[in-house]
Amino acid sequence: MTPGLAHFFLSLFPFLRVTDYSTTPVGPNSTTPGDLNNAYSPPYYPSPWVDSSAEGWQDAVTRARAFVSQLTLLEKVNLTTGVGWEGEACVGNTGAIPRLGFPGFCAQDSPLGVRFADYVSAFPAGGTIAASWDRGEFYRRGYQMGVEHRGKGVDVQLGPVVGPLGRNPKGGRNWEGFSPDPVLSGIAVAETVKGIQDAGVIACTKHYILNEQEHFRSPGQFEDFGFVDAISSNVDDKTLHELYLWPFADAVRAGTGSIMCSYNKANNSQVCQNSYLQNYILKGELGFQGFIMSDWDAQHSGVASTLAGLDMTMPGDSDFDSGFSFWGANLTLSIINGTVPEWRLDDAATRIMAAYYLVGRDKHAVPVNFNSWSRDTYGYQHAFAETGYGLINQHVDVRADHYKAIRVASAKSTVLLKNLNGALPLKGNEKNTAIFGQDAGDSQYGPNGCADRGCDNGTLAMGWGSGTADFPYLVTPLDAIKNELAGNGGIVQSVTDNYAWAQIMSLAKQASTAIVFVNADSGEGYITVDGNAGDRNNLTIWQGGETLVQNVSAYCNNTIVVIHSVGPVLIDSFSNSENVTAILWAGLPGQESGNAIADVLYGRVNPGGKLPFTFGTNASEYGPDLIYAPTNGNESPQDNFEEGVFIDYRAFDQKNITPVYEFGFGLSYTTFSYSNLTVTKVAAQAYTPNSGLTEPAPVLGNSSTDPSQYQWPSNLTYVNKYIYPYLNSTDLKEASFDPEYGLNYTYPEGATDGSAQPKIAAGGGPGGNPQLWDVLFTVTATITNNGTVAGDEVPQLYISLGGPTDPVVALRNFERLSIAPGKTATFYADVTRRDVSNWDTASQNWVVTNYTKTVHVGSSSRKLPLSAKLSF
Ligand SMILES: *[C@@H]1O[C@H](CO)[C@@H](O)[C@H](O)[C@H]1NC(C)=O
Ligand SMILES: *[C@@H]1O[C@H](CO)[C@@H](O)[C@H](O)[C@H]1NC(C)=O
Ligand SMILES: *[C@@H]1O[C@H](CO)[C@@H](O)[C@H](O)[C@H]1NC(C)=O
Ligand SMILES: *[C@@H]1O[C@H](CO)[C@@H](O)[C@H](O)[C@H]1NC(C)=O
Ligand SMILES: *[C@@H]1O[C@H](CO)[C@@H](O)[C@H](O)[C@H]1NC(C)=O
Ligand SMILES: *[C@@H]1O[C@H](CO)[C@@H](O)[C@H](O)[C@H]1NC(C)=O
Ligand SMILES: *[C@@H]1O[C@H](CO)[C@@H](O)[C@H](O)[C@H]1NC(C)=O
Ligand SMILES: *[C@@H]1O[C@H](CO)[C@@H](O)[C@H](O)[C@H]1NC(C)=O
Ligand SMILES: *[C@@H]1O[C@H](CO)[C@@H](O)[C@H](O)[C@H]1NC(C)=O
Ligand SMILES: *[C@@H]1O[C@H](CO)[C@@H](O)[C@H](O)[C@H]1NC(C)=O
Repeated sequence: MTPGLAHFFLSLFPFLRVTDYSTTPVGPNSTTPGDLNNAYSPPYYPSPWVDSSAEGWQDAVTRARAFVSQLTLLEKVNLTTGVGWEGEACVGNTGAIPRLGFPGFCAQDSPLGVRFADYVSAFPAGGTIAASWDRGEFYRRGYQMGVEHRGKGVDVQLGPVVGPLGRNPKGGRNWEGFSPDPVLSGIAVAETVKGIQDAGVIACTKHYILNEQEHFRSPGQFEDFGFVDAISSNVDDKTLHELYLWPFADAVRAGTGSIMCSYNKANNSQVCQNSYLQNYILKGELGFQGFIMSDWDAQHSGVASTLAGLDMTMPGDSDFDSGFSFWGANLTLSIINGTVPEWRLDDAATRIMAAYYLVGRDKHAVPVNFNSWSRDTYGYQHAFAETGYGLINQHVDVRADHYKAIRVASAKSTVLLKNLNGALPLKGNEKNTAIFGQDAGDSQYGPNGCADRGCDNGTLAMGWGSGTADFPYLVTPLDAIKNELAGNGGIVQSVTDNYAWAQIMSLAKQASTAIVFVNADSGEGYITVDGNAGDRNNLTIWQGGETLVQNVSAYCNNTIVVIHSVGPVLIDSFSNSENVTAILWAGLPGQESGNAIADVLYGRVNPGGKLPFTFGTNASEYGPDLIYAPTNGNESPQDNFEEGVFIDYRAFDQKNITPVYEFGFGLSYTTFSYSNLTVTKVAAQAYTPNSGLTEPAPVLGNSSTDPSQYQWPSNLTYVNKYIYPYLNSTDLKEASFDPEYGLNYTYPEGATDGSAQPKIAAGGGPGGNPQLWDVLFTVTATITNNGTVAGDEVPQLYISLGGPTDPVVALRNFERLSIAPGKTATFYADVTRRDVSNWDTASQNWVVTNYTKTVHVGSSSRKLPLSAKLSF
């Protein structure tokens, strides 16, 4: 091995070598939003080890410990360290344990399907399925995605996403997650995790945490700015708990086997080595028993990240294809030189294997039968090394009949925003239908014509970046509408060039019905589309779509607008136009896009989706802007989350801004009324803070510290640039390839202490103190369908916590109900202790304050006809 890119890179940017152990994120003493300058993350050590009594995990932990107990040091290192970028078939692969016939782990994108593979389904995006407000759809989508990953040989699906949460609607990857509301996101992530894992695949909930924008997410070189360190998302403790952490707690409670730590810093500490966020919050307070995996090259230190709770490094090399790693040989060294106690490595391996057993990988695993780096049938198993030529893609079709559920889910996630005088549903016998917009038709390059969907050509059904899958086909709206109308005696014509003004005007004048398709895209920051480096530059519709709507509606008094977008767009220039008779938000629907929108337009499906975010009139209404240029020279841009918990509708409510369409809003082809609110108090035990001591760290291995035992085996078939656990010298410093080996080491206090530790008051079970889920009230309301067609309604329960720093209302529960015409249904909702609590920074626990609390039930965040005070 020769010193490669990693050394070059690290010597150029020595401050990437973060050995600052005091860094961790969110200080328990930063109590108020705004008190965020010089944000600092207090240290928390040791890293908590697996709790063998954790609810739901006992059997998995027992089996994991038995497995890890038989492993050698090198084998344990192999389990924790990726083999390097493009070293094996999946986007992430750990080393194997050949002695036991145990293949390495395969981790594969994405949150909406299997990335880099053929014969897979393209599901609706997270931010789109959220609009169904349907637990059953969340679960089913998760399960089917899990089945598809399982069939390809994937052990860990890299999804779902609840970070970004969606602090600002311009955030490039918001659409991969569900909603800026933590409760909607929390319910969606929990059901998705259960679905994926019931299919026998480990879910990796990501990106933990505060990864709210693409610009400057990682330290790096930027064309315009030179080197800029990673952005620091600075947040106070209350906001962390009440907003950004909330859905992660739900994911942990649902049993997520893995969590991915994010690229950014939080309170000035890189998240993957942030002992406060990983040790204290995630493994301590939330009682997470699975493993923390780094985002790809989000690990920036060896010993520091190990002690701060990282369990698996991906893709393994410290720089793609450098051949060097912070772990691998370095992790072996750090154990035998005594810097890292072996119980910490044992714990990382135990967590990885516990997740494996938890989801039944021992029963469900099939060998990996695809290769991320080529769709060819034959090629290199080790793409970067260009070795191991053979059969790499078996083209296994894992789709089953998932297309059916995808179509149903996409239609259920479509939100009807406006419908003047029953413009919709269309009857299918329209005399003259005109379809407009390049968003209606095919891309000239095909649905997968731009790598990782990195362009906005043709109808938009997915954003861009690693959160994608290849479309098996993409039914466009134009295809589906033509199919719908062919043979019905009418005329159907289209213009899919948004700038062909003459043809657009001519067609709009003739049309009795005009349907205009427009879009707005975003994605991951490594691809720039139309000048948008991941994050959106603005909230306007793309490709002149706003002008297109204005031009069509100037000539056609029955203009129906369908929006495919990653989030809110500015539509106030036409939303009130009398000629714009209907508006639908269809999100990013996946492969069945056209069929699903036709189902809604032509009334086979009565829309029941509700907005998972707010449509405003101006980007500034949503709160602080993203940071698009360095603010601090080459140091971390400081992104102070000074708005606290007031994002999306909470910001609009706080500032009394009238939205165009509010969070939770969505119409139906029928109408519903709300009556008869009942609130019943339920007896519950008083809340008891968790207390006592953990068990001491179990010692599963006591490996020799003799370096001669860890040298390269002479008979190994070395794969170029692969990361291995072996040492190539008995001189430890030489083996480390690290000029700073052994220098300046001071380790955080307590980091190597494996004795019993005090339990954390707000903890006690996966997700936090189990008493947070005690039901304190049950609420019911009667919903009546007043129309003549069956429809779905989503009654929503909001709570006003009543304090001066609380949102006007905050969503706490909901249920999607199907109601026959003229009939009623009962909405039942539990209100838990967690639902009525605030985070108390002094006691580091949840408390029910003395402020008067009110429960509201209605059809959106601003239409809440039923209210009652809660009496405790
Ligand atoms: C937080 O405040 C408490 C009490 O005022 C103090 O003892 C503790 O040292 C502070 N912690 C930090 C990290 O500043
Ligand atoms: C570590 O993993 C690599 C890659 O799978 C494998 O070649 C090697 O034999 C493994 N080493 C041990 C000690 O199991
Ligand atoms: C060990 O880590 C250091 C950085 O901490 C790196 O420079 C070196 O290349 C690594 N060694 C190996 C063998 O990967
Ligand atoms: C298609 O995509 C390319 C690349 O993003 C872009 O330059 C071009 O304008 C697009 N074409 C249309 C018709 O949108
Ligand atoms: C906003 O961004 C889109 C996509 O890049 C672009 O088409 C549009 O012109 C921009 N709008 C404004 C007002 O700059
Ligand atoms: C509405 O459409 C009619 C044509 O049907 C047109 O004459 C009128 O100017 C349009 N109104 C607006 C506000 O665009
Ligand atoms: C819309 O325009 C058509 C002619 O294209 C006309 O027959 C109809 O009355 C108009 N409707 C309204 C509500 O103005
Ligand atoms: C009101 O709701 C309660 C509880 O669900 C139910 O028992 C009662 O019958 C309802 N009353 C009406 C008028 O719907
Ligand atoms: C390499 O040699 C060791 C020790 O003799 C043996 O246990 C192992 O199976 C061999 N590995 C391979 C890949 O031949
Ligand atoms: C132990 O090994 C690690 C990994 O190579 C290295 O960073 C650290 O400096 C070493 N510590 C000592 C005390 O030599």
